[in-house]
Amino acid sequence: MSTKQESLQHIAVIMDGNGRWAQKRGLPRAAGHRKGAETVKEIAKAANERGVRFLTLYAFSTENWQRPKDEVKTLMDLLRQYLKSDLAELHKHGIRIRFIGERYMLDKDIVESMEQLERNTADNKGMTLILAISYGGRQEIVAATKRVAEMVKKGDVAEDDIDAKLLSQLLYTKDIPDPDILIRTSGEQRISNYLLWQLAYAELFFSKTLWPDFTPEELDTIIENFYSRERRYGKV
Ligand code: IPE
Ligand code: IPE
Ligand code: MG
Repeated sequence: MSTKQESLQHIAVIMDGNGRWAQKRGLPRAAGHRKGAETVKEIAKAANERGVRFLTLYAFSTENWQRPKDEVKTLMDLLRQYLKSDLAELHKHGIRIRFIGERYMLDKDIVESMEQLERNTADNKGMTLILAISYGGRQEIVAATKRVAEMVKKGDVAEDDIDAKLLSQLLYTKDIPDPDILIRTSGEQRISNYLLWQLAYAELFFSKTLWPDFTPEELDTIIENFYSRERRYGKV
């Protein structure tokens, strides 16, 4: 039997509520996104200190491209800035940084910064922070399915050998364990196309807190609650 400590490796978060946080204060939505970006840094450091091995944060979905042009631009500019300063600071804390999502949708300079960060932090021994940017779970599964079709066509894989393990190996998250915990902030209770395959047996936590107000203390409460749950994986 594994110990409790070993059973929590990966936390995934849908960081929601930036817009409402700003609206409540009569501020532009951009102010909420800026504050939300600060929370990312704080929560990443806290999770790292608590020995979490993987933290995956949903920062921008494939569907978020459909937001008004000026909001998309604000988010991309914020990301640009973030890649240069804040994430570099996390590097100092020994955090490894990775990105999942459709890179071809992003501006070239952003992709270059992302690749540089991944290279620079690759040997870090702390937590791996995974940022889902231009990410969609269905798109990820479709892309993997196309690759399976190609492999079968080429004769590299027999139809009978197609299984969940093979599919998992073709996802962005191929070398990352499935999330143990999913947290969604802001009171919404839906998945919004996040890690559809990987969340199969995650414990779900829905918090009413808006993401910019989310604290390490609330993270602790969730982790504590997680350890009190019994995960049965379909068994008795
Ligand atoms: C989450 O906050 C951040 C992104 C989706 C980029 P929202 O922008 O969705 O905030 P609400 O849901 O409008 O409050
Ligand atoms: C999900 O939040 C995406 C991110 C947090 C990046 P949304 O605010 O885009 O999701 P919906 O539209 O409420 O489902
Ligand atoms: Mg939202």
